Amino acid sequence: MRKIGVMTSGGDCPGLNAALRAIVRRAKKDHGLSVIGFMRAWEGLLEGDFFEMEFRHVSGILPLGGTILHTTRKNLLEKPGTMERVLARLDEIGLDGLIIIGGDGTLHWAWQLHKRWPKVVVIPKTIDNDVWGTRYSIGFDTAVSVAVEALDRLHTTAESHDRVFVVDVMGRATGWIAIHAGIAGGADVIVIPEHPLRESEVLQIVDERRARGKSFSIIIVAEGVHYVAMKEKESASKYLAGLIESELGISARTVKLDYVLRGGTPTSYDRLLATRMGYTAVDFLVAGKFGVMTSLRGTQIASVPIQRVVGRINRVDEALWAMARTFFG
Ligand code: F6P
Repeated sequence: MRKIGVMTSGGDCPGLNAALRAIVRRAKKDHGLSVIGFMRAWEGLLEGDFFEMEFRHVSGILPLGGTILHTTRKNLLEKPGTMERVLARLDEIGLDGLIIIGGDGTLHWAWQLHKRWPKVVVIPKTIDNDVWGTRYSIGFDTAVSVAVEALDRLHTTAESHDRVFVVDVMGRATGWIAIHAGIAGGADVIVIPEHPLRESEVLQIVDERRARGKSFSIIIVAEGVHYVAMKEKESASKYLAGLIESELGISARTVKLDYVLRGGTPTSYDRLLATRMGYTAVDFLVAGKFGVMTSLRGTQIASVPIQRVVGRINRVDEALWAMARTFFG
């Protein structure tokens, strides 16, 4: 094995650069490999927008959010013939292995690529933490920390104005950010796609708090939550805030954290997770362990076949939801 490639694909997140740094350091320093970095994943590969990554390229990027390789949301499988062009380029460049850092969307095309060009290892990243087969994905811890800081700050202004704040957090299909940040940030209600509380339940909790003299409430809602009565393009957070004002007569505001959760410097946890997964992904390639994804299992970085991961979603577990309910109200 002489030369490996690396690319970042899908939504960005804090920690990607920490993983890239670990890959370059492990590959070059300990295995004597060269590392090719592809700009915007397979797009850079096709356009010839790639470069040999030296130590200087990864110097100082550990705490840097985003990805120095940039990323793409385009799916390799979208246009017929693209896969064939990518395969030809991979052979032309003469790669002995490829590390793809991505989330659930990327995993689909990485699996298809692996079936045709086996020397692939995937590292899971997404603030949503919805990649099956790993306890945590890179970026999740940072998103939770940013959301918790927002909830802490909103508590003071909510109380000062006797207001309800409905906080909208990312999480396209799962409520991981909402439930972790809701528990750690002391939210009074948590609404997630896996367990979408009825409107009446949300109103009852807020009303009972008011009856106990708590003139404010903090509600956190995952963006993937949907209520039948919502208007076209209306978010669940806006919908619930409207109900609180109209049904309970309490002032309510919404805060959409959105891309703030995807930006900025990674937490120490994400830096460590990304470093460990990057380091291990190189070792998997060197060992000829292709077609796997790095996986946090307990405290260890293990491997799981990409085939088992594709098409599955890591949803919030029942036990965590049951525990969260204790802290509602
Ligand atoms: O997949 C991560 C994520 O941030 C989701 O939480 C969010 O719904 C989506 O990406 C936003 O996608 P884009 O960056 O393409 O707007």
